[in-house]
Amino acid sequence: MSRKIPFFTTKKNKEIDVERVDNVPNHVAIIMDGNGRWAQKRGLPRIAGHKEGVSAVNKIVKAAVKADVKILTLYTFSTENWKRPKSEIDFILRLPKEFLHIYLPGLISNNVRINTIGDFDALPDHTKEAVQYAVDKTKSNDGLLLNFALNYGSRLEIIHAVKKIIHDIDESKLSIDSLDDKQFSQYLFTTDLSDPDLLIRTGGEKRLSNFMLWQLAYTEFCFSDVLWPDFNESNFLNALEDYKQRKRRYGGI
Ligand code: IPE
Ligand code: IPE
Ligand code: MG
Repeated sequence: MSRKIPFFTTKKNKEIDVERVDNVPNHVAIIMDGNGRWAQKRGLPRIAGHKEGVSAVNKIVKAAVKADVKILTLYTFSTENWKRPKSEIDFILRLPKEFLHIYLPGLISNNVRINTIGDFDALPDHTKEAVQYAVDKTKSNDGLLLNFALNYGSRLEIIHAVKKIIHDIDESKLSIDSLDDKQFSQYLFTTDLSDPDLLIRTGGEKRLSNFMLWQLAYTEFCFSDVLWPDFNESNFLNALEDYKQRKRRYGGI
């Protein structure tokens, strides 16, 4: 079965045929790693890798729309990334604005909804304003949910949840006995987002780097050596293909 999806263009008639892929993961999360090494390999400053990484984001968002993925979570900046030199941090945190300036119209016409997880308040004003604008502009879209993990750290998220739970117990809004994993999930930044079905980490490292520790409990993992700026649609489709072969048992048989 094939269908037509209008692509990231406002031009009419420009449609691309895609085969419907069976067993597509509902929620794909990506640790976009390897920007710095991509640049260093070319004798460029690390920030050149981050800039190139923005084009890769656009490519993979397009591929996710085409493949009919429902939620795409992108690890964009971690709570540990504040350890980097200030000049690199400043550069990275200007990229959401740049990305949205170029790609927001295309995202809107493709019915993409933008969301963020993480400690949003601690971001610079210019980052917050650009992202909030995009969130507001796309809030009634019901296509791909593009979820940026921005100043995100899983341990911070869990501690934040525990504090809120204690607060709600104190205020009698929650009873200790009713707390189960479903309810606990509601207190995380991801609230009612389903857990990722597939996690992809690019750049060759095989670790989670404080990413979605709770939500990845039963997620399928796919590690790629490709550095994020080089990661393309075909690499993404390979990961979806790999996912298709997995047998998810959730502890059963
Ligand atoms: C990932 O690329 C981007 C962020 C962490 C913001 P890196 O900057 O970590 O690139 P490498 O891992 O040093 O190559
Ligand atoms: C993880 O990459 C964070 C993001 C991709 C945003 P890092 O490059 O920060 O991870 P480590 O330091 O190698 O574990
Ligand atoms: Mg890295």
